Amino acid sequence: MATITIDGQKIEARGNNVLEVALDAEIYIPHLCRHPQLEASSEVHSMREVYVGGVPHKGEPGMPFEGCGLCLVQIDGREGLHKSCHTPIEDGMVVITDSPEVKKARQERLKALLESHPHACLLCAQSDGCDRINCSSNIPEPERCCDNFGKCELQKVAQFIGTEMGLPPYKPLNFPILEDEPLLVRDYNLCIGCLRCVRVCRDVKGSDALGFVVEDGRVVVGSKAPTLRESGCQFCGFCIEVCPTGALKDTVTGVGERENFLVPCKSSCPAGTDVPRYVRYLKEGRPEEALKVIYEKLPIPETLGRVCFHPCETDCRRSQIDAPVAICALKRAAADMGGGFSPVPQDIRKTGKSVAVIGSGPAGLTAAFYLSLMGHSVTVFESLPEPGGMLRVGIPDYRLPREVLDREIRLIQ
Ligand code: SF4
Ligand code: SF4
Ligand code: SF4
Ligand code: FES
Repeated sequence: MATITIDGQKIEARGNNVLEVALDAEIYIPHLCRHPQLEASSEVHSMREVYVGGVPHKGEPGMPFEGCGLCLVQIDGREGLHKSCHTPIEDGMVVITDSPEVKKARQERLKALLESHPHACLLCAQSDGCDRINCSSNIPEPERCCDNFGKCELQKVAQFIGTEMGLPPYKPLNFPILEDEPLLVRDYNLCIGCLRCVRVCRDVKGSDALGFVVEDGRVVVGSKAPTLRESGCQFCGFCIEVCPTGALKDTVTGVGERENFLVPCKSSCPAGTDVPRYVRYLKEGRPEEALKVIYEKLPIPETLGRVCFHPCETDCRRSQIDAPVAICALKRAAADMGGGFSPVPQDIRKTGKSVAVIGSGPAGLTAAFYLSLMGHSVTVFESLPEPGGMLRVGIPDYRLPREVLDREIRLIQ
């Protein structure tokens, strides 16, 4: 393994380039276009035309993307400054990340980025206690801190680099805020042209719906066709996940756990089943794994795959694009195809405690199953001659064949 020195610290280099090695050794070098899910070597070239809100923006095609230029370092024995994300490791290399030249060059680059990006959030003395709605500094609304404040990578990078050198006045780009397509809100006034979104869409998602042009010397990102839908966007949200600013957002926001409103299938399932995980396993052709995920929360997947009223589908965000994912039918598919997997482990340690469960409907059966997995001795009391509660007496046989219900109850017994 190569050994290099960064800021006087000798390091066994784990990583392909100086930036990766420094971050692995917990030496921070500011960066914006690099992202752990994206290959540092992934190249992007400008297009002839992209669209922002249906309006074409044009530029010279085929120009390589130069990068954010913030990750500059000095390498002992080499002229000038180097982008650490593109500098391969060499044994014995000596790297300096915080010389006055490096700091000055980063500040200049940051100033250029912030010329067309609102930056009140970086300068306002009251920003920390601000409610983001009423501006006590009377900053015009488009220039105020956006609602990414506090979780914005650009803001953190700018705070690290520092703004003592002063920032240029903000020159608004006046792009419209794009809210008319499903699931995504795009505000390219906040875009810094890092192209993470373009690369994740092409290299990770495989949709290749986005591109960029260089217009008046500035990177303009947009969709390849007038709308995202026409560009082949799958509305997966990967671009939102990687965007380091507030330029890309989900249409829904909410209080509490982000997952609750971004993954409503899971939060609306009364059992809290991890729907995305088992759907993904099914997509990968792994029904047994899918069934294991379902059994984490539900002991009657064959039954519920037939009769659940699926509130998850009602809330599925895919319905904003075309139709909800057929989650209930997929549960049944997992149960039908994932055979061979036994949900009952062999080595349950008995607790010596006894639990009585009143009623053998779906709730009673579920409670009994998981209590016995915890090692308790469970007795279910049922007033009807056979177990199953409403599953047996409230649902006709053609919807829930009795042999399916009996099989799942036997497994619980
Ligand atoms: S994207 Fe970040 S830096 Fe830009 S206004 Fe929002 S919080 Fe501030
Ligand atoms: S939502 Fe997904 S498919 Fe659409 S632009 Fe973003 S990354 Fe590409
Ligand atoms: S929209 Fe976000 S991810 Fe895409 S180039 Fe702009 S800042 Fe980067
Ligand atoms: S992180 Fe290296 S050029 Fe952007």
